[in-house]
Amino acid sequence: MKLLRVILLTMTSFAAASAATTVQHSTFGHMPDGKAVEIYTLKSSAVELQVMTYGSRVVSLDTKDRNGKMGNIVLGYASFDQYLKDPKTYFGSVPGRYANRIANGKFTLEGKGYQITTNDGPNALHGGKVGFADLNWSGKEIPSGVEFTLVSPDGDQGFPGTLTAHVRYTLNDNKVVIQYSATTDKPTVINLTNHAYFNLSGDGSGTILNEQMKIDADKFTPVNSTLIPTGQLAPVAGTPFDFTSPHVIGERINASNDQLKLGHGYDHNWVLRGKMGELHPAAQVYDPASGRVLSVETTEPGMQFYSGNFLDGTFKSRTGAKYEFRNGFCLETQHFPDSPNHPDFPSTELKPGQTYHSETTWTFTART
Ligand code: GLA
Repeated sequence: MKLLRVILLTMTSFAAASAATTVQHSTFGHMPDGKAVEIYTLKSSAVELQVMTYGSRVVSLDTKDRNGKMGNIVLGYASFDQYLKDPKTYFGSVPGRYANRIANGKFTLEGKGYQITTNDGPNALHGGKVGFADLNWSGKEIPSGVEFTLVSPDGDQGFPGTLTAHVRYTLNDNKVVIQYSATTDKPTVINLTNHAYFNLSGDGSGTILNEQMKIDADKFTPVNSTLIPTGQLAPVAGTPFDFTSPHVIGERINASNDQLKLGHGYDHNWVLRGKMGELHPAAQVYDPASGRVLSVETTEPGMQFYSGNFLDGTFKSRTGAKYEFRNGFCLETQHFPDSPNHPDFPSTELKPGQTYHSETTWTFTART
């Protein structure tokens, strides 16, 4: 009996020790104005995550393959300066104040019209010309992670209200938890997400078309030629957008389908089944080559599955390989694109006195 207690106690303290996350930080580079960009390394026995103050970005994410071998599975650069030279990909960032598109950068709120800086044809993408992905947030260590904070002034890119935003990255064993919160001093709109590009076979290992995608959604929001939702919620059944059961990403990506043509592949928002505001499954991706499985849960009503269609070999990975067409995919949990112009979509308005909350988790396992 006594021996059993000793064994049990030893096992419990071992489990506690192995679940502990260590956090360290150092300087990764400098902004053009000389301000330091800090990088935080969160480490558990299963995952090593690096995030930096610039753009509140995920820089690297090492997880185990089916043989227990660690490898980085997100796209990114070896040196900080390369991030400053890439205005296009949003690698690992938290885009804001409004992730995804606002048609013509225009919306009306409480009877007043606003114009956001446009940076994607006629539209505002990921918060306009200088969005949250381009700014150096401040960082503070918290238990098992880090909290980044950004104050976006009233009128920033045309958005009303001083917005104070926080992003917390914490690591709990094999689960990365991302928590977003924000407050404002005037009515405004907000939509935050994470724009990490995954390649579960490993960063720099080429195409993602062989990875199997499952999405917990029966509908998606079809788009027009500038990727603005038409307003319709279309059923996925019988289309290449049906991922209710797993399909290899490349299986139907070149099918003759108007929506795939407009997106140059997958670049659409799926309407998730779960209840908004509560954590629910969003997607599960399995990579047959490495055995890695990524499971995504979120409190958000939507998710943009983007198959890396704008990667074109311009940028080089830290492994030396060029990032080519469809070498990474994003799962951007979010409110629907262009919601400020679609009163029937879940609202993205935030008023003074209210706190915006959003949470997304990434859990990493492996199949043998
Ligand atoms: C989002 C958009 C894409 C593209 C990328 C960044 O995923 O939906 O169209 O702009 O960001 O390249």
